Amino acid sequence: MNRIKGKTVLITGASSGIGKACAEQCAGCQANLILAARRFDRLQTLKNDLEKMHGIVVFIHRLDVRVRQDVENFVSQLAARDICPDILINNAGLSAGLDKLHEGNFDDWERMIDTNVKGLLYVSRAVIPLMIKAGKGHVVNIGSIAGHQVYPCGNVYNATKFAVRALTEAMNIDLSGTDIRVSCVSPGAANTEFSTVRFHGDTKKADMIYTGYKPLSADDIADAVLYILNAPEHVNIQNILITPTAQRNIYCVDRRKPD
Ligand SMILES: NC(=O)c1ccc[n+]([C@@H]2O[C@H](COP(=O)([O-])OP(=O)(O)OC[C@H]3O[C@@H](n4cnc5c(N)ncnc54)[C@H](OP(=O)(O)O)[C@@H]3O)[C@@H](O)[C@H]2O)c1
Repeated sequence: MNRIKGKTVLITGASSGIGKACAEQCAGCQANLILAARRFDRLQTLKNDLEKMHGIVVFIHRLDVRVRQDVENFVSQLAARDICPDILINNAGLSAGLDKLHEGNFDDWERMIDTNVKGLLYVSRAVIPLMIKAGKGHVVNIGSIAGHQVYPCGNVYNATKFAVRALTEAMNIDLSGTDIRVSCVSPGAANTEFSTVRFHGDTKKADMIYTGYKPLSADDIADAVLYILNAPEHVNIQNILITPTAQRNIYCVDRRKPD
């Protein structure tokens, strides 16, 4: 069953990892796309590939979700062209650093809070009114297992992802009385650029996170997002927590398998 054919899907952080995989899978279902991220060259390549492969329309926009005015301008431009996203995937996010709270780096904290919490709020605040006006919509927030359990030195990243879980609940309650659905997908360890970003470009450190077991792929998460989006209108899947089989909770990772 393909219920997203012909719909318009707005994805933040579509230049890499989970956002890119969601874009590819939505395109495979013949949905039209609005893709936003800071690395415009990557969006340009993705647009060219997906339009050629699937005959869909892909609109791309260079966007830093931390800049409220830019988010508002971007969404106003869509509204002015009568484009209302049927689906919003709030995916843009990152972890930065892995330090004890009392030794934490302020720049890292601000990047995470500004992107994962405030950026998600800015985008949602701009897009949801369009959905309300249209009388339909579906918001999917990408949370994390880190929003369910705190781990050593995860502190501020954990707090931002607990916030995403709280905001998913809050959106659901505040959208009662509309047909707009709100869902959250919380991945465990997924092999994307996430850990390279966390360790400020140190790929050796990043690779260590994924050694000794098979992590999730970005496509594993996109599969879950597509499952949520394809549910019938009366079904609102509020939360999915997905881990690699080797990761039973945030601490318990079975690293028996050598690479
Ligand atoms: N990988 C994991 O293990 C894992 C686990 C749980 C949750 N998550 C969550 O999954 C989401 C996607 O991460 P990923 O694993 O796919 O990592 P990724 O490969 O590093 O992708 C992150 C995406 O977010 C975008 N982004 C970051 N800051 C942004 C900003 N200020 N404005 C706009 N876009 C921004 C990046 O695009 P640009 O750099 O081009 O702007 C990139 O497209 C994040 O919310 C992350 O917290 C990941």
